[in-house]
Amino acid sequence: MAREARCVRDVVEPRPTLEGAGVRLRRTIGTHALDYLDPFLLLDHFASDDPRDYIAGFPWHPHRGIETVTYMLAGEVDHHDSIGNRGTIGPGDVQWMTAGGGILHEEMPRPRDGRMAGFQLWVNLPAALKMTRPRYQEVRAESIPVVRRDDGSLVRVVAGEVDGVVGPVSEIYAEPTYLDVTLPPGATFVHSIARGHNGFAYVFEGEGRFGVVCEEGYRGDAGGELVAAPDLVVFTDGDEVTVRTDAAATRFLLASGRPLDEPIARYGPFVMTTKDEIQAALDDLRTESFVWRDDAEWARRRQTWRG
Ligand code: FE2
Repeated sequence: MAREARCVRDVVEPRPTLEGAGVRLRRTIGTHALDYLDPFLLLDHFASDDPRDYIAGFPWHPHRGIETVTYMLAGEVDHHDSIGNRGTIGPGDVQWMTAGGGILHEEMPRPRDGRMAGFQLWVNLPAALKMTRPRYQEVRAESIPVVRRDDGSLVRVVAGEVDGVVGPVSEIYAEPTYLDVTLPPGATFVHSIARGHNGFAYVFEGEGRFGVVCEEGYRGDAGGELVAAPDLVVFTDGDEVTVRTDAAATRFLLASGRPLDEPIARYGPFVMTTKDEIQAALDDLRTESFVWRDDAEWARRRQTWRG
């Protein structure tokens, strides 16, 4: 059977957003224009040369029912959390945190030469894993493989596989792809994405032609929609994504994941299946029983949550 190319379903402009204690972000997923791209709940891009835009950071706050993925391009973030992790992530590093049943953490920017840049992506957890044990995968820049193709393309593989090279982030329910792709002028990049998985590209430098043109009767493989930074491209279903560059270079994140196809109830840093579960999260915070514990009471709770 012929492989089907993915088309561009939508192009979403970032919405300026103030988050945490006053951090200026560009948000694309998690906005009125694109509320949810199952299993992706939120995509924030931070990029500034002015510490006033980010120095307030993200003081101590909770998460439940999701995974948060931080990918740094510039600057450093000091973090620590309720399961005992503490450290600093810097340029090229990735922190893939499974909040599961409950984690508290702090993410505080430390500028380097004034510059701070990176991304945070939120990935939903299925109902059966929302109350799972929190887990934390930190991957240093040097542990993220880089694939260099003959045409000068460069792909950092955080999760998923490119040319047989597998990214270090593993055992994530959504079976995600997470790539940082740099294309020089005149390049073509084709990447397989499992049929049925939702996929997007977030263009943060330059411009490129994304997907193929899927007008009625169109059967060619040339073209693609011209998209310039900063914009998010949402793809239709299919087997593969094609990106081409003309005279300009481009750099973008390419991500995909298996949709959960479950109801969601969201309230700030909690994403659950029902409103009652959101209320329970708020009650747990108030009674200081929010943080996941390895004890009998929590074992009972997890049974209840699974219905
Ligand atoms: Fe957080």
